[in-house]
Amino acid sequence: MSTNASPRVLVAGSANLDFVVRAPRVPAPGETVLGGGLQTFPGGKGANQAVACARAGGAPTTMLVALGADAQGERLRRSLREAGVELVEKPVEDASGVAFICIADSGENAIVVAPGANERLRPDDLPPLDGVSHLLLQLETSLDSVTAWAARARAAGVAVVLNAAPAQALPPALLEAVDLLVVNEGELAMLAGDAGDLEAALRRLPVPRAIVTLGGEGCVARDGDAILRQPAFAVEVVDTTAAGDTFCGALVAALARGDALAQAMREASAASALACTVAGAQASIPDRASVLALLDGAPAPGRGGAR
Ligand code: RIB
Repeated sequence: MSTNASPRVLVAGSANLDFVVRAPRVPAPGETVLGGGLQTFPGGKGANQAVACARAGGAPTTMLVALGADAQGERLRRSLREAGVELVEKPVEDASGVAFICIADSGENAIVVAPGANERLRPDDLPPLDGVSHLLLQLETSLDSVTAWAARARAAGVAVVLNAAPAQALPPALLEAVDLLVVNEGELAMLAGDAGDLEAALRRLPVPRAIVTLGGEGCVARDGDAILRQPAFAVEVVDTTAAGDTFCGALVAALARGDALAQAMREASAASALACTVAGAQASIPDRASVLALLDGAPAPGRGGAR
């Protein structure tokens, strides 16, 4: 992993406006459940991770994003800019990406994404990598593009971090270009065959470093041959949307700052716990002061619920 003296993070990926309804539970197939009022929040895995990285403050953060010329695109652009993310924007005629999210009273969610403009990002849209130390990728844009971006970054000596979400099989050419893979349990099972034995599954992944996030059970990493464990921080869960994205963005910010993997996992876990205490995706992502307050054992300012 790069330890560039003046790190810069580039995030390439999706932005979606999230249409959110809370309900007693996520409906089963064929079931209708009456929920509460409709809310909208800026989201999308790529944009959430860019916001998390910028708010964590480890390095200047740039995002390659495709937005439509619509009200959703304007709202997504504004949210990214307000978080301090510099944009490399591909204007497209398609509608901006949207996501439909049902949040259960337990805080868990179910999400369907209509990618729209996100699908227009192509392999040659990646901006020049001069000065970029870390490239952070997810899988809500075309797999061909993600694979080409990762290969180009690897060839340029840029550290490539891939959050393999949503779960799908990955081509060997993509995994060969990845320095650090971040997955949840379902994604780990998809990539490693099964995730019954987490350590064994992590060891089967053909990448130098890999982390599996386990919600309230914390996270486990394989760094070469070594296994690292980070417990979760106890919080009152309101909404888990973007908790994984917050983990990825805060993790890369800490690595760009020069932190060792264990410390980066600790900060990312604290950030991700705080993201669960507030409704919405980007609206819930904490800044570094709140994360440090949680790590110091103090209540995070303006974010009740951390204990
Ligand atoms: O990871 C959470 C995100 O997934 C939401 O913001 C939604 O837009 C989907 O991309």
